[in-house]
Amino acid sequence: MGAQSKGVVMRKWKSALVALTAVGALALSACSGSSRGDTASDPSSGAAGFPAGSTIGVALPQKTSENWVLAEGLFNDGLTAAGFKPLVQFANGGVTEQQNQIQAMIEQGAKVIVVGAIDGSQLGSQLKAAQDAGIKVIAYDRLLENTANVDLYVAFDNFKVGVLQGQALLDGLAKQKGSGPYNIELIAGSSDDANSTPFFQGAMSVLQPKIDDGTLKIPSGQTKFEQATTQGWKAENAQKRMDTILSGFYAGSTKLDGILSPNDTLARAALTSVHQAGKPNPVITGQDSEVESVKLIMAGTQYSTIYKDTRELVAKTIDQVKLAQQGQPFEVNDTKTYNNGVKVVPAFLLDPKIVTKDNAAQVYANDPNLAPLTK
Ligand code: BGC
Repeated sequence: MGAQSKGVVMRKWKSALVALTAVGALALSACSGSSRGDTASDPSSGAAGFPAGSTIGVALPQKTSENWVLAEGLFNDGLTAAGFKPLVQFANGGVTEQQNQIQAMIEQGAKVIVVGAIDGSQLGSQLKAAQDAGIKVIAYDRLLENTANVDLYVAFDNFKVGVLQGQALLDGLAKQKGSGPYNIELIAGSSDDANSTPFFQGAMSVLQPKIDDGTLKIPSGQTKFEQATTQGWKAENAQKRMDTILSGFYAGSTKLDGILSPNDTLARAALTSVHQAGKPNPVITGQDSEVESVKLIMAGTQYSTIYKDTRELVAKTIDQVKLAQQGQPFEVNDTKTYNNGVKVVPAFLLDPKIVTKDNAAQVYANDPNLAPLTK
């Protein structure tokens, strides 16, 4: 994501949050027609769409967290149940592999391509080829950037995820670490993932005033996204950085009270580092409700996570594919937030939930994988 488009996206966040509550579910007829001149614009054919039973491509990134693995099975089952032919692929080899997979989906006649991008700014020519072939493109969980060739974005509200994480960190510190000031460190996600900036900025919208008033101190001085980022969302990168920070800035009895972590995988990596350094358990945030982290939350070791029910996100995406198949416009509830540098991408945003030990049983009550962990 270029610095400029980041800026554009960020400036829109605040107003969008307000707009979100006001807009509600709103069908945008303009977004499904786009500029492709496909059959949807031919009044004589009625609802145009495409044949039931068509191939639907789903291009997923690397398996950097459990949610992606869950999505694979859910897309395969859900698309098959809806009568489509799913073509679901991971790109564990990286960006080039994902580009090739999307190209192959076009050649195999996919009618919709759903993309969970590794790097949402590196797929421009494949997405253009898809739209030139009349294929609808849905950005899944991560925004597709610097391209006009995306029809819809379906995701949990990323900025809100960050806000909830920042607030949880403050709440946990107040509960577990007495009165401030508190020493904390910041971890951000991978810089090629469009979500990492809104996660970080959402959290900083809550934390920055507390840094400014002296309640929070960051002994490493690493307060910028660029300093806190974790390449490839890799646990070993977060762990190494935390090791370096601990040996450099937390010698002797200097305490580390809290860590902002953008997801569960990196939270567990940071905890390993802190425990190996012989420091007391810090208050630490996370995201994704991964099984190992939910166990740590129930044990009191990880303070919070975020619940983004992958079943809900995939089901919502498949509903949108069905609308496209029937020649109907996509369902959107946000038309302001996601400026991808070229256009504002119409979005359907779902609501993320904060989870701590206190509300885990209630939040996971309807999730058969997670509910038993809270008993
Ligand atoms: C997702 C997070 C996930 C991260 C690493 C992000 O784009 O929104 O849920 O933790 O990728 O896989």
